Amino acid sequence: MLLLEEITNAQVGWRLTRLTLCTYLFAKAHSGIVSFSQGYRQDRVRKSEPPYVPGHFLWGNSAQFSKHHVRFLQTSQKQLGDIFTIRLLNHYFTVIMDPHCYETFVKVKNFDFFAIMHQVLNNVFALEVKSSRKLSIEIAKRLKGMYVNTTMDNFAKHVQNSFTDLTKTSAMTTSDCNANINTDGNTSVDWRREMLFTLMSKTMFPSLFYTLFGRSVDPSGEEKTKNFCPKVFHDNFNLFHKYFTYLWIGLPLKLFPQAVEALTVLLQQPTSHNMLRRDGVSEQIKVSINHFHQHGHSEQDIALYNLVIFHVNYNTFRAAYWCVYKLAEDPRILKDLERELHEAIEMKRADGEESVAFTLAEIGEFPLLDSFWKETLRMYSGTLMTRYITEDTEFEMPSGQKYTVRKGDRAVMCAAGVHMDPEIFEDPEVFKHKRFVNTTFYKYGKELKKLIFSFGSLCPGQRSAILQGKWFLMNLINSFSLQLPEGQKAEPNTEKYGNEILPPVNDVQIDFRPKEGAPVLVYSK
Ligand code: HEM
Repeated sequence: MLLLEEITNAQVGWRLTRLTLCTYLFAKAHSGIVSFSQGYRQDRVRKSEPPYVPGHFLWGNSAQFSKHHVRFLQTSQKQLGDIFTIRLLNHYFTVIMDPHCYETFVKVKNFDFFAIMHQVLNNVFALEVKSSRKLSIEIAKRLKGMYVNTTMDNFAKHVQNSFTDLTKTSAMTTSDCNANINTDGNTSVDWRREMLFTLMSKTMFPSLFYTLFGRSVDPSGEEKTKNFCPKVFHDNFNLFHKYFTYLWIGLPLKLFPQAVEALTVLLQQPTSHNMLRRDGVSEQIKVSINHFHQHGHSEQDIALYNLVIFHVNYNTFRAAYWCVYKLAEDPRILKDLERELHEAIEMKRADGEESVAFTLAEIGEFPLLDSFWKETLRMYSGTLMTRYITEDTEFEMPSGQKYTVRKGDRAVMCAAGVHMDPEIFEDPEVFKHKRFVNTTFYKYGKELKKLIFSFGSLCPGQRSAILQGKWFLMNLINSFSLQLPEGQKAEPNTEKYGNEILPPVNDVQIDFRPKEGAPVLVYSK
C-alpha cells in the first residue's frame, strides 16, 4: 500500500515541473496549510536529538533523496551513524538504519501509523472513514485463521481458470505477430509472446480481482457494470495508480484529467447490495461494506474503499511480476524451482494422476521457492515504514545511546536500506535465488531476527500475499515454460520509493509455452 509515501512526495515535488511546483507551493502557502518559513526548523538541533543531514535551505534533502534514495541514506549513515534526521520540503524524517532497532521501533507507543494511513485515505481517495481503527482491526481478523483457507481456495480456482483461459487463447491472437518464433530461431506453434504486464494482467490480476470481489450472480444485470471486470479495471487502475504520489502531496485530482477519467470508470462498480451478493466475494469486502453501512457512509465511499482494498492487494501483483520476470530471465533459476516442484509432485502423484493436491502447510515447505520469493522482495522493495511521532519521545539505540525524536516529525525505517546493506547481504545488487536457504545473517556481528522489511510490521495481508504469490508461481512453473526474448531487461523504478513493491521502469516481452501433460495443481483445504 502506498501508505508511506511521505518521502516520495518530496521526491516528486522536486521532480515536478518548476511551474507545477511553484503553483503547488504558492497554493499551499496561500491556503495556510504549509508555510515554508515554518517548514525550515528555526531552533536547529536540540541537545540529544539525532544529527541533521545538511541540505538546501528550501528543499532540504529532497534533491539528494530523489537522485538515489538508498545511496543517499547509506552515505548519511556512514557520515552520521545509524540514526539521523533529513528534511524533505517542510517535513522532517528521523531515519533509523540499524535493523536491530526494529523491535524497539514497532513498540514505541508514540509512533503512530494511523495518522499516516489517514492522510493517504484523505488525499488520494478523498475518504474520511468513520471508526477507521475499528475497521482496520476487523479487516485484519479476516486475513487470519480459517479465512486464509477460504481465500486460498478461491484464489486457487481463479488461478486455474485464468491459466485455462490463457492456454485456450490462440497464438494468433497474441499481441505480437512474431509470437511463434522462439529465441533459437526455430518456429514452434506453441511458443507465444506477450508483454509481461499483459500476461500478468490476464492471470494474476483477474485471480486477485475475483478473489476480492467475487463474480456476478446476475449476468442480466451485468450490462450496468460492464466496466467492472478485470481487463477494464486493470487498465484504469494502472492509470490512476500513476498519479498516486501527486494526489498524496495534496495536488487536486482535477489537475490530472486522465486520473479523473480512470477513477470515474473504477467507480462504476456494482451497488454495495449487489457486491455482497456476488459469488465468492471476500470477507474483507463484506466486512468493510457492513462497516460503511453501519456508519452511514455513501455508496461512493464504499466504492472508493473497495479501491483502497484492491490497492493494498496490488502489491502482491507487483511482487509476482518481478518473480515471473526473474524466472524467465534466468533459466537456471527456473530449472531449480522446476526441479523442486517436480520432486514434490512426483512424491504425491500416484499412478500418473491428473491432479495433485497441496495444503496450506505444504505450500510453505519449498525451501527454494521460499528463498526465491524472499530474494525478489529483497531486491524490489521500496517500503518506507513510516510513523507519525505524536509526542517528543526518547528512542534508545541498541548501543544504549538515547535520542529524542520530535513530536510532529516522522520516524522511518527503510526496507531497501537494510536489504541493500552489503554487511548483511553479500553482493546486495546481485539476485541470488538460493540466498535465504538455511542461512543466517548478521549486522554488527549480531544475528538478525528480521531480514525482510517489505511488509513493515503492520501489514495484515502478509500471509495471504506470500501464499498467493507462491501458489501462483507453483502453478505457472508447473504449467508453462518461460523465457525472455533476447535483449529484454526490466529495471525497478527507484524513483518510486514509498511504493511497497517498486514498479518497473519499462515492461518486457516474454515467451511462454504450455507444458504438455502437466498435472493440475489443486489446493487442498
Ligand atoms: C507483497 C505484498 C504486500 C506488501 C509488500 C505489503 C506491504 C505493506 C506495508 C509496508 C504496509 C505498512 C505497514 C507498516 O508500516 O508497518 C502495509 C499495510 C497494509 N497492508 Fe500490506 N502489503 C502486501 C500485501 C497485502 C495484502 C495482500 C493485503 C490484504 C489482503 C494487505 C493489506 C494491508 C493493509 C489493510 C494495511 C494497512 C494496515 C492497517 O490498517 O493497520 N497487504 N502493507
